[in-house]
Amino acid sequence: MFRHPQTTPKGVETDDAIRVQLSVNGEPLDLDLPPWTSLLDLLRHRLALTGTKKGCDHGQCGACTVLVDGRRINSCLKLAVSLDGAEVTTIEGMAGEGGALHPLQDAFVRHDGFQCGYCTPGQICSAQGLLNEGHAQSREEIKELMSGNICRCGAYPNILDAIEDVLNDRVSEPRMPE
Ligand code: FES
Ligand code: FES
Repeated sequence: MFRHPQTTPKGVETDDAIRVQLSVNGEPLDLDLPPWTSLLDLLRHRLALTGTKKGCDHGQCGACTVLVDGRRINSCLKLAVSLDGAEVTTIEGMAGEGGALHPLQDAFVRHDGFQCGYCTPGQICSAQGLLNEGHAQSREEIKELMSGNICRCGAYPNILDAIEDVLNDRVSEPRMPE
């Protein structure tokens, strides 16, 4: 990684900036970052991708969940400089062409899977990570594997309905012959 001088948020000169190349929602980026920048702060403060929410900033609530190379992570706990070469997907990158809703977004709308909506981007990214993992086969397993995403409005039954709907659709999809 390439290093060169950088100004800290407090205006103090530091030579600790680190160059990182990563893609966010398919857009390649070449950034010089102070090494203490969390992925969450990079997304919200530098890239203005404010769909990803900051709840606790301590890995306790799941509001900041995004996908890194298809795996769900708490972006508040991940240093951005550790993601050289990674592909990051946020809620802004979930919709399809022309803004068509992702199946999870559509299911959350149909099942009324939110109230204030603050936890929703994290819930949806986490649900996509859960689907990618392929471990959840039942409502109980969805509940267990989504337990890191807190909803202070208590919309859990509807969130579960939405994810279960998409999981069942996937299971029932005809498989291509190998
Ligand atoms: S803001 Fe990251 S887990 Fe709460
Ligand atoms: S919808 Fe309000 S915190 Fe989940």
